Amino acid sequence: MMQPLIDWDQAELAIGIDEIDNQHRELVDILNRLNEAVTLRQGATVANAALDQLHDYTRIHFAVEESIMRLLGYPDYAEHKLKHERLVNELHSLSTRFHDEGRAINHELMFFLKTWLTTHIQESDREYADHFLAAGVQTGGGAVAKAGWMANLVGRIRSLG
Ligand SMILES: [Fe+2]
Repeated sequence: MMQPLIDWDQAELAIGIDEIDNQHRELVDILNRLNEAVTLRQGATVANAALDQLHDYTRIHFAVEESIMRLLGYPDYAEHKLKHERLVNELHSLSTRFHDEGRAINHELMFFLKTWLTTHIQESDREYADHFLAAGVQTGGGAVAKAGWMANLVGRIRSLG
């Protein structure tokens, strides 16, 4: 096994809300796969597929976060949504560039994406974690977690494609 681009535990990325942590883990996994494709020179098709996946899953993840923020009346919703839009636009223009111009995805891009994702989690998402937890979105089998509403929400957003 090669060294992952982002080591979940070492990077201290958990914010303490299970469903959100799981989604962030998934994003980290996708990014590590992309990095593996680049490092092991698995070819543009594999790398582009991973980049597309990152783009798609990021949009799903942000939609989930925004839905929860609206449900819980998060005061900084508008600001956070703006940050999401900027991040998605960045990711979109990146993937278009690598698709359409056939550029090789390189380590410089991987470093950019690593910073992009860890900053999103550590700076921006930590801001809402306390609000979510105080509002009853808890980890480890609390009432909200048991109801599984977050998982349902994720399922519904995914099915919208
Ligand atoms: Fe997030």
